Amino acid sequence: MKKEFEKLPLTGWYPGHMLKAGRDMQERLRLVDAVIELLDARLPSTSRNPALAALFGEKPRYLLFNKADLVPPDYAQAWLGELQRQKRPASFVDSLHDYNLQALVGKWRNFMLDVRRKRGSTKPLLRPLRLMIAGVPNVGKSTLINRLCVGKRAAVGPRPGVTRSQQWIRLKNDMELLDTPGVLWPGFDSKLVELKLALAGAIKDELIGEELLAEFLLECLRPHEDSVQWGLYGLDGCPAEVHELLDAVGRRRGLIRAGGVVDTLQSSVALLKDYRDGRLGKIPLDRFPDHES
Ligand code: G4P
Repeated sequence: MKKEFEKLPLTGWYPGHMLKAGRDMQERLRLVDAVIELLDARLPSTSRNPALAALFGEKPRYLLFNKADLVPPDYAQAWLGELQRQKRPASFVDSLHDYNLQALVGKWRNFMLDVRRKRGSTKPLLRPLRLMIAGVPNVGKSTLINRLCVGKRAAVGPRPGVTRSQQWIRLKNDMELLDTPGVLWPGFDSKLVELKLALAGAIKDELIGEELLAEFLLECLRPHEDSVQWGLYGLDGCPAEVHELLDAVGRRRGLIRAGGVVDTLQSSVALLKDYRDGRLGKIPLDRFPDHES
C-alpha cells in the first residue's frame, strides 16, 4: 500500500526571489575566479543544484560539503574518494563545531593557484583571489561565513528561502568571498528530491506537511535502523508504522492533548528537529556513491 507521502504531488515551490537571485549570480560571475558550491553532507548528490551547474559553465568549482557531523565518517570518505577519482576538488566540514575549517581558505587558495598554473598564467597575482559561494537554503552558508570571515560578519537567516542581499566577505590569505542567497531550482525531477531537500531544511516544512515529512523520515531511517538512537523515545527498534513512532515521541516528550491523545503534529516537529540536530544518529539521506544512479 502506498504511504501518504508517496501520494503527494510535487509542490513546485520556486519563489520569485530565487529566480532573481539566480540572475544576479549569473551577472556577478564575471567578478569571481571560481565558485564554491556548498552542499549538505547528508545529500552529496541531491543538494547539487543542476541549474547552478549550467549557470557556472566553465568556472572552476570547489565542492564543499557542510554538516559533516551529521554523517558517518566512512560515508564522507566514500564520497571524497569518488570525487577524487573524478578529479573534483572537495572537502567535508562542520561549520557548527569548526571541524576542518582552519585549513579551508588555504586549500581554496592552492586550488585557485593550481587552476591558474594549468591555464599557463605566469603573471604575478596583484589582487585578491575572488570566490562566489552558492548553495541551497539552510545548508549552513551563514554559519560557515561567520567562521571564515575577517571583520564584518554575515547575518544568519532563520528560515529557508530568506532573501539576503549579495555581499563581499574578506577572508584571510588575501581572498574575498561573494555571498549569495540560498537558491533552489525550478521543476525537481522527482518527489524524492523534494522530500529529501525538505528533510534537510532547504524547503519549508509546511509546504510538505510535518506529518508527511515524519513518515518520509521513518522510511529514510529504516535502512540505517541499527544506527538510529531509538532509545531516545523509549523504543528498542524501528517501528513498523509512523503512528507508532509519533506515539512514542509524543509520550516521551509530553506532547499530549486533552483526552490523553498524542499531538502528532507537535511530535512530528520534535522528531524532525531531533533528526536535523543529529540526536537520532548520523543518518545520511543519499546513498553511498557506488549506489547512486
Ligand atoms: P544558510 O545561511 O545556508 O541558510 O544556513 P544557516 O547558516 O542559517 O544554518 C542553517 C542551520 O544549520 C542552523 O541551524 C545552523 O546552526 C545549522 N548548521 C550550520 N552549519 C552546520 C554544521 O556544520 N553542522 C550542523 N549540525 N548544523 C549546522 P538552526 O537549527 O536553523 O538554527 P540554530 O537554532 O542552530 O541557530
